[in-house]
Amino acid sequence: MAFNEKFLWGGATSASQFEGGYNEGGRGLSHMDYIRRVKKADKEKVFPINVTVDMFEDHKKHEDEYNFAFRRGVDFYHHYKEDIALLGEMGFKTFRMSISWSRLFPTGLEEKPCEDGVQFYHNVFKECHKYGIEPLVTMIHYEIPVYLTETINGWESPKMIDYFLHYTKFLIDEYKDEVNYWITFNEINMIMNSSYLGGGMFVEKSKKTPEACIHQALHHQLIASALTVKYFREHTSKGMIGNMICRLQNYAYTCNPEDVLATQQQSQFNYFPTDIQVKGTYPTSILNYYRKKGIEIDWYPGYESILKEGTVDFASISYYHTAVISAELDKAEPIGAFIRNLENPYIKMTDWGWGIDPTGLRITLNDMNDRYGVPIFIVENGLGAHDELTSDNNVHDNYRIEYLRAHIQAIKEAIGDGCNVMGYTPWGCIDLVSCGDCQMTKRYGFVYVDADDEGNGTYQRYRKDSFYWYKKVIASNGEDLD
Ligand code: BG6
Repeated sequence: MAFNEKFLWGGATSASQFEGGYNEGGRGLSHMDYIRRVKKADKEKVFPINVTVDMFEDHKKHEDEYNFAFRRGVDFYHHYKEDIALLGEMGFKTFRMSISWSRLFPTGLEEKPCEDGVQFYHNVFKECHKYGIEPLVTMIHYEIPVYLTETINGWESPKMIDYFLHYTKFLIDEYKDEVNYWITFNEINMIMNSSYLGGGMFVEKSKKTPEACIHQALHHQLIASALTVKYFREHTSKGMIGNMICRLQNYAYTCNPEDVLATQQQSQFNYFPTDIQVKGTYPTSILNYYRKKGIEIDWYPGYESILKEGTVDFASISYYHTAVISAELDKAEPIGAFIRNLENPYIKMTDWGWGIDPTGLRITLNDMNDRYGVPIFIVENGLGAHDELTSDNNVHDNYRIEYLRAHIQAIKEAIGDGCNVMGYTPWGCIDLVSCGDCQMTKRYGFVYVDADDEGNGTYQRYRKDSFYWYKKVIASNGEDLD
């Protein structure tokens, strides 16, 4: 049997894309609440998540006119009982969700949390346990109270570390009996691709260069994560805490050593936050990169021992696609992961141009297993697709089943190779607002939510064909993939 009995099958969501109820229960606004749907996004490859100071000011001025889809999510806030029952029906062992920081601490500065928010998450966890589902909680899935964006430029400021710790210590103390699996930061490396999304900040406000500002903010996040892990160890007697990156498996465009070298450099770049969070030190390659680029980090006092003491129990990843790297075509200095994704003739693309590559997942799992020696958790993967609700309220999403089947098969093979994989939680298990495009049109779920990009719809939930298929997969512990 490939998957052991404790394998954590489930699905994943994030508060900002799923929860809604943005102005209820005393919740404060988050910086995600100021990202708006841009209609031309699909055609012109505009990324609504890259909010600039000017855009932000404009969004504030036109609060009532713009389509802030993350504020709505898909209204899990009012549907949580029904939603968790659906997950229970599929046989989920775990449910990945995140907590909205501003639901508990509206500005991030309050000494005491907002009681309604605290109770809401108790209710959610209670509901999960009713169906034998272990919550897997991401402490921060991008969103920070917008007050911190406006007043201290988000993660650029070292003050964020204290505010974050106040919040995470509260989470641990309050929910440790109900939650056994935690992730500190969602895709901590995403800040290198979108500084507003991942850092809740504006690089143009910084005295540093944009790249230095990003790496400074990332340093603060790594410290905040390590101190949270340390607190978790000292104040709990059970459970596990992990990190997460958006994993990008890179292939060399040719066997020209220059291409291979460029690919290796990209790989070092993609892995370095996990290197730090699992091994406890900055790898030489990234320090060298800082030196060459003249990036000066204001190192947090005692950072070396903090990072050493705050290493994680498991390494988690999102895995959606792979990238092809060429030294020659990539004249620009890389920053972040998605430098140049050349076409790969061996794989098919999704409707959003993401390469479908299950073998890449097997490669990544083997790579990480050798590199880190800690359990690996695939906490996001899946197919963003156009779905159609038929007149008899069905969704025939065979394409999704095919995608997931191939990826589960690849995980099975990686386990056969000797990899220690602890679970699999496909993204957006119930349809939610897609992050990159701030839209409902791109759907990932086993459950269809009747809502469109503008927020119209009944918000009713409907089981897709993949719902019944995944239920069977879980019931057979990954043996029956037909
Ligand atoms: C991951 C994020 O990067 O990708 C999620 O953690 C996001 O928040 C997911 O939704 C899929 O991306 P998208 O743009 O298709 O929603």
